[in-house]
Amino acid sequence: MKMNVKDGKTLLVDGPASVTLVSGKAEVFGYALRNMEKVVIRDGKRMPFFIKEPATFNVALGENANVEEVDGNTIPTSWDEAYEELLTVQTKPAVALVLGTVDSGKTSFCTYLVNKLLNEKRKVAILDGDLGQSDIGPPCTLAYAFVPRHVTDLFNLEAKNAFFVGVTSPSRAAEKVIYGLTLLKSEILSGNSDFVIVNTDGWVEGEDAVRYKAQLIEKIEPSIIYCIQQDEKLKPLIEAVKLFRTVIIDSPQTIKQRSRDKRRSLRELGYIKYLKNSRVQSIPMSWLKIESDEFLVLGKNFLDKRREREIYDLLGMKPLYMVELRDRIYVVIGRNRWINPENIKRAEEALGKRVVVTFKGDEKGFLLALYNDEKKFLGIGVLREIDYRRKVIKIFTPVSSGISTVIFGKVKLDENLKEVSPPIIEERVKIP
Ligand SMILES: Nc1ncnc2c1ncn2[C@@H]1O[C@H](COP(=O)(O)OP(=O)(O)OP(=O)(O)O)[C@@H](O)[C@H]1O
Ligand SMILES: [Mg+2]
Repeated sequence: MKMNVKDGKTLLVDGPASVTLVSGKAEVFGYALRNMEKVVIRDGKRMPFFIKEPATFNVALGENANVEEVDGNTIPTSWDEAYEELLTVQTKPAVALVLGTVDSGKTSFCTYLVNKLLNEKRKVAILDGDLGQSDIGPPCTLAYAFVPRHVTDLFNLEAKNAFFVGVTSPSRAAEKVIYGLTLLKSEILSGNSDFVIVNTDGWVEGEDAVRYKAQLIEKIEPSIIYCIQQDEKLKPLIEAVKLFRTVIIDSPQTIKQRSRDKRRSLRELGYIKYLKNSRVQSIPMSWLKIESDEFLVLGKNFLDKRREREIYDLLGMKPLYMVELRDRIYVVIGRNRWINPENIKRAEEALGKRVVVTFKGDEKGFLLALYNDEKKFLGIGVLREIDYRRKVIKIFTPVSSGISTVIFGKVKLDENLKEVSPPIIEERVKIP
């Protein structure tokens, strides 16, 4: 569909859609589009095209997509002032950190800063600290990219390195996020960027969130903090970081709010992108270092035969696989097997440890991160199966070589790469 739009107006396009500027002049988040350049707007995203000179577009709309014209520029003037202020920062690289609630415009503001800086030929790196709605790197990871050219969507950037957290919400892994971001920031500093833009997640309300963000900020030591003010929600956080240079900016009025479901489906686009061209790799477990917090422990099994027999007798059966740790014993049994709860209780009392029972097949679907032996993030995968007898792990992944460490996430994906909630282990022990 062809659309002519007058200068001074903004074309708001809700994805999934694609827009080609046929003639005239238009800008997206501070970037002046080239003629005949095609811009893709993902499902769940909205993109503002500000018209600088009367323009003609070719617009293709997907299902539930939408396009509308509004007057003026939807980028707040405070964003432009914020950019000007960034240029006054003397440290090199200047580190700018962006704070805001969900759907406040964090990603868009980062995109805007990146483009404005690139207009001035500055070298820019972007560090994405939002694991739930990652722009760079797969979902559940923190990642960074050096930005080689203007962008309309940070999602199109290629991650230089990433740190896997394995959950979608920082409240479940605050320390890990702080650690990961600090690590990635120091990696960025060894490059030669003029500016580092750090995006953060939208968890900003409540004591825990404020404490977490304040700790994060102390570690990152930004030269300047941008606080996107929608209402009063950020106030306690701004107060907590007032020793830093803070700049309050507006949230665009035309922002598109997203439901939980839309957020999940945006994440799923991320899984799809990073699992493209995957195939199942079967890797002997003895070749790998496997890190898993609580669900399955796959380390080497040091049980001697006598100890094994003792535990089997207590449980009244021989499991498929078993690992004894200091405070607990993990037992994997076949799908159709059963352990008498009385026996579990007896074993726990006799051994003085918890017995955690899982079923063969429960491992299927776990999101994994794959690293090489230099701790470089290679990509993600989905666990298909653990063959306990042959001691082989089967991973659906596009990574074809060099895997030396596998880290388990807490997210599970089904065959269509949709998120499913993991089973609760505690219940599993009681209900065989
Ligand atoms: N000035 C604007 N005009 C119209 N739409 C905008 C504008 N700024 C941002 N948007 C759109 O609003 C939506 C939310 O913005 P954005 O993704 O930047 O917020 P966020 O704070 O990063 O959200 P999240 O918490 O999900 O990461 C996006 O689809 C974005 O493209
Ligand atoms: Mg965002």
